[in-house]
Amino acid sequence: MTNVGVVGLGNMGRGMAASLLRRDFRVVGYDASAASAQRAAEAGVELVDSLAEVAAQCDILVLSLPNPQIVEAVINGADGLSKHMRSGTLILDTSTSDPQVSRRLAAQLKEVGVRFVDAPVSGGPSGAQNGALTFFIGGDEEDVSRATPVLDAMAKNRFHIGASGAGNVAKIVNNLLCASHLVIAAEAFKLAESAGVPVGDLLESINAGSGRSGVTMYNFPSRILNGAFNSGFTMQLMRKDVRLAMSLVKSQGLELPIVQDMADVWQASESVIPDGDDFNRIVQFSAAEAQE
Ligand SMILES: NC(=O)c1ccc[n+]([C@@H]2O[C@H](COP(=O)([O-])OP(=O)(O)OC[C@H]3O[C@@H](n4cnc5c(N)ncnc54)[C@H](O)[C@@H]3O)[C@@H](O)[C@H]2O)c1
Repeated sequence: MTNVGVVGLGNMGRGMAASLLRRDFRVVGYDASAASAQRAAEAGVELVDSLAEVAAQCDILVLSLPNPQIVEAVINGADGLSKHMRSGTLILDTSTSDPQVSRRLAAQLKEVGVRFVDAPVSGGPSGAQNGALTFFIGGDEEDVSRATPVLDAMAKNRFHIGASGAGNVAKIVNNLLCASHLVIAAEAFKLAESAGVPVGDLLESINAGSGRSGVTMYNFPSRILNGAFNSGFTMQLMRKDVRLAMSLVKSQGLELPIVQDMADVWQASESVIPDGDDFNRIVQFSAAEAQE
């Protein structure tokens, strides 16, 4: 039996652990927060108290962490994974992270025989819980092949995009589109309402027409118009993803003015919408901005 370690047992990591347990993997988990760890333990994860113990017990480590700085700290920090992993360990980093950080970590760890694959995901906590995530993968073919049984337990779709870092490039572009579609749809629907047509009356037609997007097909009916705002993906994380996109734009020396405007909306929302709120709340902010 392969022992899989899951580091980061939050909204996503907890569900991934549950999907791995259903496929009869032994799952050893670690989280810096006792509350997150406890919820995962209730689902059957064997908790350990340190990164050293996860590294000692597992051949494959799945990371699900908030941002690239924390991924870096978990690997290279004092008493981090790099101090304890055996040669041959495979890390599957499912965090939405910086492609440059992924590339640097993959190169660094390769020197000591540890393999690192960036494998960020889409599909939210329900996709994690149901083994129905979409994976965007960057890394060597042989490492991705080796991770196949673990990926199979968690994935509905997986795309091996390219070499190390390519998974995070794809994921950042995916979330840049989602973030943008939310902002533009909020303004477009403000226009419809102002012209006398409520969103609820036109959404079905838009979704049968060429203006549709994931946001109009899924977020508006399931999370926004019904007032639920319960996706399990926070404003803090989407603002981080938009920042990652802008950092990628900068590193490429590009000027993307429409993307910049959209990023400014997400940045400005920081003083109004708390970090812990659902990311779909941006539609209320951008629609209000559009009204001014
Ligand atoms: N929530 C979603 O819908 C969603 C969807 C796709 C991708 N993601 C990405 O997946 C990642 C995780 O997202 P989430 O929603 O589960 O976040 P989360 O905040 O719910 O969970 C992150 C967990 O990491 C733990 N953690 C933080 N620092 C740690 C450390 N040093 N060592 C060990 N554990 C630590 C936290 O205690 C927390 O339990 C993020 O990169 C996010 O962008 C989230």
